[in-house]
Amino acid sequence: MNAQVHAIGASGGRARSGSGSGSGSGSGSESGSDTDFLFDLSGVEAHAWAMLEHGASDRRSPCHAPSVATLSADGPQVRTVTLRHVDRAAAILRFNADVRGGLVTQLMDDPRAAVHAYDPAGKTQLRLRTVATLHRGDALALSTWQATNPSAKRCYLVPPPGSPSDEPTTGLQAPLERRRPSEAESGAGFVHFCVVALKIESIDWLHVHAIHKRRARFDLHDGRWQGTWLTP
Ligand SMILES: Cc1cc2nc3c(=O)[nH]c(=O)nc-3n(C[C@H](O)[C@H](O)[C@H](O)COP(=O)(O)O)c2cc1C
Repeated sequence: MNAQVHAIGASGGRARSGSGSGSGSGSGSESGSDTDFLFDLSGVEAHAWAMLEHGASDRRSPCHAPSVATLSADGPQVRTVTLRHVDRAAAILRFNADVRGGLVTQLMDDPRAAVHAYDPAGKTQLRLRTVATLHRGDALALSTWQATNPSAKRCYLVPPPGSPSDEPTTGLQAPLERRRPSEAESGAGFVHFCVVALKIESIDWLHVHAIHKRRARFDLHDGRWQGTWLTP
């Protein structure tokens, strides 16, 4: 299935009947209708993955900055992250984080995380049920750190995220607010750097098309995805 994000038109496309559970034309269509995949579970599954893959590769994608929810002693916590990598075969998505922040400390206590993204143009919501693995100081953390833009590395040179301050602050020492850190300067941030890998166990896909409103869920069982239509 191609990693292609369908531009779902608001006009409705051609009407069809049947549940289309795995039969159908997939994400493409012989007729060329943008909405054919709304009758085909495998096409919907491909659409969900394409949304995520575009989120990692295209900064303008609405899935580039999904919300990640974790569990804390104070109740659920949610925040925006920057999607860096999506591996459909392994069902893993990755982003970077500061090990001292609430996100990572909460995942250390309970690795379960929910991910939410919404594409307003495509009128499609994704909700993922995931389990986190934290990569700190290992080969993945090091290769990701080395590939990280020096300016972005400044995020790891500040006091612990959420530290109180007597004045408005970036947390950076003044000279570093306006220039890239040197290799030696940014290197100090590596101990705070972490790659968060979320293993996706379930995808809930909702499309709020004016006519063909659709919802489907895909669950990973023994390495195989099983999809089902749901009433929206
Ligand atoms: C557009 C945007 C992208 C962000 N990307 C990340 C990210 O990739 N990783 C991260 O840890 N925080 C990121 N943040 C900051 C988090 O949303 C959050 O403020 C931070 O993790 C501290 O919250 P916490 O204490 O819940 O961890 C981002 C914020 C915004 C607005």
